[in-house]
Amino acid sequence: MRIVSMRNTNPTMLAAALITGMWMGCGDAATEDGPVDLDAGAETTATERLPCNVETVLVKRCQECHTAPLANGAPFPLVTYANTQAEYFGEPIYERMRVAIETDFMPPDPREKLPPDERATVLDWIADGAPSAAPGEACP
Ligand code: HEC
Repeated sequence: MRIVSMRNTNPTMLAAALITGMWMGCGDAATEDGPVDLDAGAETTATERLPCNVETVLVKRCQECHTAPLANGAPFPLVTYANTQAEYFGEPIYERMRVAIETDFMPPDPREKLPPDERATVLDWIADGAPSAAPGEACP
């Protein structure tokens, strides 16, 4: 909300948003699908986090490399919820995680592949649309 009101008080940004909306020629749809989505992403980064069971697997099996700063040639971090929602080659990273796990591409050799329970934890979460943790969920 704070980001939106800052934009509204900045004449240049407001004008740019209006012009972009006019160019796209989508009326209300441009308002919903354009700038508003960017604001939603910013809020995701600030407030939402990984479910505990998913985070546990990522910490144990992925963050040796997918960490910040990146290690061992990994191309992106898998530390925060926002990391999993970012895009990599035009797809949400959680979707790339699904393929990488299903094909046993990740964790890479010679690391142990995910045991069945941990595999199910991550794949079930992705099948549900990779939601953030329930509000107030406390990790053990
Ligand atoms: C030992 C280091 C290491 C570990 C552990 C590791 N990764 Fe990776 N990961 C890499 C490297 C290096 C690449 C780049 C490989 C490439 O593109 O050829 C990569 C690439 C990826 C990609 C992108 C693949 C694509 O092109 O779509 C995904 C998704 C991914 N890893 C997910 C995971 C997940 C999930 C885990 C844990 C279950 C994991 N990785 C564990 C090193 C690691």
